Amino acid sequence: MPEDHDANPAIRLLGTGASIDELHLAAEGCTACELYREATQVVFGSGSTRAPLMLVGEQPGDVEDREGEPFVGPAGAVLDEALAGAGITTDDVYVTNVVKHFRWEPKGNRRLHKTPATRHVRACLPWLEAELASVVPKVIVCLGAVAAQALLGRSFRVTKQRGEAIDWEGRTVVATIHPSAVLRAREPEERDRLRAALIEDLSIAARLAAD
Ligand code: URA
Repeated sequence: MPEDHDANPAIRLLGTGASIDELHLAAEGCTACELYREATQVVFGSGSTRAPLMLVGEQPGDVEDREGEPFVGPAGAVLDEALAGAGITTDDVYVTNVVKHFRWEPKGNRRLHKTPATRHVRACLPWLEAELASVVPKVIVCLGAVAAQALLGRSFRVTKQRGEAIDWEGRTVVATIHPSAVLRAREPEERDRLRAALIEDLSIAARLAAD
C-alpha cells in the first residue's frame, strides 16, 4: 500500500463521536506515513476512556510494538511507579502516544528506537485529536519533548517549563520528562532526581484534574 498523506482515516472520523474502540480499529489501516511498513502493528491508546487525565508519550517502543499496548516495556514500568507515587490509579488515566507506530533502525539483531520525524508526528496527530475528542480529558500530560512540542510548539522546552499548567485549546496541559530519561540516567542521584521530578509533575496534573 502506498503512503497516503491526505487519507489518515482519523480525519473523516473527527466529529463523528467515534469511540476509542472504533478509532483503534480504523487506525489499524492507517497508511498516512511509512512507519506502518516496518512496525508489527499499530499501538493505540488504552486505559479509561472517560479518564480525567490523558498521558501522551512519544511513540511505542520495541516491547509495545510486539505487544500492541502503550507503555508496557521498561519506560512503562517507570511510569507505573511514578503514577503510584503521585497517587494516581489506572482508572484515572488514558495512555497514548503522539505517533502510533514504532520507528526503529536495525543494529545487529536489535531494533533501536529512532525518534519520529516531524512528518510522522504531523501525519499521526489526527489520531490524538480524535482520542482527545472521544475521551475529553480535563488535563493532558505530555511525557517528553516530542509530545510537548507536538502540542505546544517547537519552541517549548520541557527542561524549563515542566510542571507548569498551560492553557491549550481550552484544555490544561502539563509537560514533564519522558520516563525513559530516568532509565538513561547514569548516576543514581540523577535517576532519583528525575524520578522525583516526574512524580512531582504528575502530582500537579492530578491536582488540576481533581479541581
Ligand atoms: N515510550 C513511549 O513514549 N511510549 C511508549 O508507549 C513506550 C515507550
